[in-house]
Amino acid sequence: MRRKRAQYFRQYQWSNIFAMIRNNRRDAAICADQAKGMLVVITGATSGIGYTTARKFASQGANLLCINRNQEKSEKLRNEIESEFGVKCDYLIADLSRMADILHVSQELAELSSPIDLIIHNAGVYLTRRELTDDGFEKVFSVHYLSSFIMNYLLLDKLKAQESARVIMVGSEGHRFAVWGLRLDDLNWERRRFSGLKSYGSAKTAQLLSMLIFADKLEGSGVTINTMHPGAVKTETGQENGPLYRWFKRNFFDKTLKSADISAEALYYLGVSKEVDGVTGKFFNLTTLEEPAPPAVDREVAAELWEVTLKMTGLKERKIQAEP
Ligand SMILES: NC(=O)c1ccc[n+]([C@@H]2O[C@H](COP(=O)([O-])OP(=O)(O)OC[C@H]3O[C@@H](n4cnc5c(N)ncnc54)[C@H](OP(=O)(O)O)[C@@H]3O)[C@@H](O)[C@H]2O)c1
Repeated sequence: MRRKRAQYFRQYQWSNIFAMIRNNRRDAAICADQAKGMLVVITGATSGIGYTTARKFASQGANLLCINRNQEKSEKLRNEIESEFGVKCDYLIADLSRMADILHVSQELAELSSPIDLIIHNAGVYLTRRELTDDGFEKVFSVHYLSSFIMNYLLLDKLKAQESARVIMVGSEGHRFAVWGLRLDDLNWERRRFSGLKSYGSAKTAQLLSMLIFADKLEGSGVTINTMHPGAVKTETGQENGPLYRWFKRNFFDKTLKSADISAEALYYLGVSKEVDGVTGKFFNLTTLEEPAPPAVDREVAAELWEVTLKMTGLKERKIQAEP
């Protein structure tokens, strides 16, 4: 741990922080191309960024397959999108903090007869208190990282068999809160004091690290994988937290935040624009390329995390997916 801290300390550069601050003020690039006939999978499409993104893609002719946890909201979304835009808006119900649900939807997606043109891993939570899932994992880590990892892993064969596809993980500048990187010996926050910001930062750092390995495995296949920060935007995030947090969010944070339309425009650009054809393994602040924090580009930790994740999720034993 001490070795890693020293390494990251040497690697941190003020210029990257200033670049992030500059990029935070930049607008998303706009893509004017249509998405007619594309099949877009989006997790967490029932509110916030996922919802506005689903509408954006549907408005440009894409068919949607949403992975949501709430049946009622999903039905409402389907009716709204299908009647307004005349595209298909199917959904699968899955609580992405539950291993059984994640495995089930991954299997369903892997068995789809039609190609998936784009997967947007968007679902997420922000928790101020540590919660464990039924499977015994810290919940923020599970929803943000484990769910996207498992889906990507179990879809590797299907995606590679297609001519092309894009995978986008909705990450966050918040990955920078994990200043000294991941604690691979304590991914469940049992040995240290839990912090909302740090657990969120760790989950988003893990996502960025997994992207490096997935990009390697997908090299030359026509499938790209990237991570993006969707801007600081007003959404329903944090509603699971206590009344004080929610009051603060409503009365202070929300007033400083932008509309989630900018996130939808950025995701549309990254998902459709020819300008990002072949670009893979990168982090974007909206649509601007950016260098993540040093712990999120540490290939040594990325390789270790890959192995740890396969073990903790039981994916190694499942052998549904032969490792390339
Ligand atoms: N808002 C920002 O400024 C910001 C900044 C950086 C990154 N992000 C990232 O953007 C993504 C979307 O967040 P948001 O701000 O749009 O928040 P949001 O409004 O709370 O939306 C989160 C979505 O994820 C779904 N979800 C949450 N837990 C789930 C679970 N266990 N299983 C399945 N679905 C689940 C929610 O479903 P329900 O509708 O059923 O609750 C909702 O559809 C997250 O990954 C977040 O980290 C947001």
